Amino acid sequence: MTVTTPELQLNNGVTMPALGLGVFQSPPEETAAAVETALQVGYRHIDTAAAYGNERQVGEGIRRSGVDRSEVFVETKVWVSDYGYDRTLHAFDKATRKLGVDQLDLLILHQPAPDRFDQTVDAYRALERLLADGTVRAIGVSNFMRHHLDELLRRTEIVPAVNQIELHPYFAQPDVQRADAEHGILTQAWSPIGGITFYPGFGDHRRNALEDPTITRIAAEHDKTPAQVMLRWQIQHGRSAIPKSTNPGRIAENFRIFDFALTAEQIAALDALDTGVRHGPDPDVARTEMFARVIPED
Ligand code: A2P
Repeated sequence: MTVTTPELQLNNGVTMPALGLGVFQSPPEETAAAVETALQVGYRHIDTAAAYGNERQVGEGIRRSGVDRSEVFVETKVWVSDYGYDRTLHAFDKATRKLGVDQLDLLILHQPAPDRFDQTVDAYRALERLLADGTVRAIGVSNFMRHHLDELLRRTEIVPAVNQIELHPYFAQPDVQRADAEHGILTQAWSPIGGITFYPGFGDHRRNALEDPTITRIAAEHDKTPAQVMLRWQIQHGRSAIPKSTNPGRIAENFRIFDFALTAEQIAALDALDTGVRHGPDPDVARTEMFARVIPED
């Protein structure tokens, strides 16, 4: 039986598979194989970013899979060093060249640049232009908090289709989710199984969400894994989720979430795990060195 993911409708009518493969920190040499595996097991949505340095391998994986380009929802992100109207138009050229595609399904700003919000707005205006031209099918943002959204909406025309944010049971950002919902923006979860709670280099004293007793209990009740429970929680909340893996078994595992359902009590128990503590970078803090990172032409 071929499993397919449910589709979510974006605010401009475009549909997007709810579950996608993430490739943050996927080494370029493993990325093409991961994408190929994902497409073979049924994924039809890949999320990458200029800053991940693996757009070329994402394109290669899509071509190698034999799945038609038109069947794959391709999402990527513009990095901060490419913010500004003309620079962002050019960032589109760089991304499509590396991916080997003419059109992007979703192009988003990687994060607000708090030290240069004017450029962030200009970058978004370039996305609006690309959308009007039909070279991208939907546009959006990532790591925007309510006040970033408010300012962006005040200064631009098109409401973002998607806001991709850190979102796992330990950090669910209810206020950002509410802001998204108020504006008809779809919330998309990065680190949806809490990878950021155990990635090295993101701070000590973290608890690994995959080992959480509530999550492991619920997983046992369904004969599923903690990762599957967290992904199911994301999907039942109506969110998009893009779990990262380069391991073929785990890529397949993360896709087997459409044959069970969490109860209302289980969802409430997962909701109650929110600590309100961010694990990833604070979108209000300018990271000067990171922001300056140049995205190569090819
Ligand atoms: P790997 O690529 O070796 O599978 P997130 O997307 O929430 O940030 O999580 C990604 C992290 O979780 C990566 O370290 C990934 O490693 C690991 N991972 C992905 N899927 C699973 C799974 N089903 N079970 C355990 N770990 C997983």
